[in-house]
Amino acid sequence: MPKISESSLRRLEKSARSAAARAYAPYSRFPVGAAVLGASGKIYAGCNVENASYGLCNCAERTAIFCAVAAGERSIRAVTVYTPTPLPTAPCGACRQVIHEFGRDALIISVCDAKNRIETKLSALLPGAFGPGDLA
Ligand code: THU
Repeated sequence: MPKISESSLRRLEKSARSAAARAYAPYSRFPVGAAVLGASGKIYAGCNVENASYGLCNCAERTAIFCAVAAGERSIRAVTVYTPTPLPTAPCGACRQVIHEFGRDALIISVCDAKNRIETKLSALLPGAFGPGDLA
């Protein structure tokens, strides 16, 4: 796989930052934006979507991934997450598992309102994951 271009990384970040403005987070008041880079090169944005039945809240990362998959993508190269916080936040455990399904080696970037950022791989965030190969 060729390296992800700087311009794709910039577009991902811009997309994640603007998606947070569309978050539906009246309960937590914690808006999150995410953007996914599919194997096709297209970018899909998502935000967290909460529900009065709290357990049904959907994270920004999963919204973005489900949009990508619904658009026909089956492989995810990178996920960027934005939170309006002083420190970057990594994807939750459920989102790590969902990313794994489509991007075992995906690059995961977390950005925030300060310069701090986390750049890592899904394989580092979820080592030894259960995945499609385990069902073979
Ligand atoms: N949230 C995300 O969207 N992504 C994460 O990785 C962590 C948490 C959302 C879920 C909920 O709407 C709010 O942030 C507070 O947990």
